[in-house]
Amino acid sequence: AVAAAVVPAAGRGERLGPGAPKALRELGGVPLLVHAVRALARSRAVGLVVVAAPPDGVAEVAALLDNHGLDGKDIRVVAGGATRQESVRLGLAAIPAEVEIVLVHDAARPLVPVEVVDAVAAAVRAGAEAVVPAVPLADTVKRVEPQAGGGPEPVVDTPDRATLRAVQTPQGFRREVLHEVHEKALAEEASGGLPPVTDDAGLVERFGGRVVVVPGHEEAFKVTRPLDLVLAEAVLARRRA
Ligand code: C5P
Repeated sequence: AVAAAVVPAAGRGERLGPGAPKALRELGGVPLLVHAVRALARSRAVGLVVVAAPPDGVAEVAALLDNHGLDGKDIRVVAGGATRQESVRLGLAAIPAEVEIVLVHDAARPLVPVEVVDAVAAAVRAGAEAVVPAVPLADTVKRVEPQAGGGPEPVVDTPDRATLRAVQTPQGFRREVLHEVHEKALAEEASGGLPPVTDDAGLVERFGGRVVVVPGHEEAFKVTRPLDLVLAEAVLARRRA
């Protein structure tokens, strides 16, 4: 079964500094989004990529993807939403009903190796309902009590680092599982809501589903802050050398 991928790319990316929407910032002269879509299209597991673009940028993004050869894969562009979650839901709605495996990949992870994409899709094909690629943490992590005034934050506890993983994308799902949790989240939002989750697997967990981890890759890091762009440029230069 061939998978489809949803790429939420409608974020402003304010932590990266002022400028174009994050997905359209350039890395090695090519927009982050184009790198991310290429990384997915390179996988033989992926037959269709749906990009959720900024609502006012659908035509621009479609033209951009047209201008970069993308391995003859089927690429569609839809309008994204006000949150990442909404962008994913809108992208998912554009996937044909017969597709059974859906990957969700951040436009902000332009350098994910194809091996990670393949491994996530393979784990879903092998029977998992939700799969996330993840890596061990270098830093020790502490839970704190955030202070409204910005003062020193009391530490609550220190989770055992050996049991923690930093989660990346693409995350892979049985399509009906992803669809169901997004619909449930939407219904809960309408009735007052729960705190937002920051990844799709988090929604599966919230509604009692089972999520498993496969090895991620250090080059699948998310471009969030200016320093991440410096690192991404260096990784790209090394690949091109
Ligand atoms: O802001 P953050 O880095 O967590 O965004 C992760 C991904 O979600 C990015 O690819 C961003 O473009 C996307 N996003 C979106 N729609 C939003 C907000 C974020 O598609 N409204």
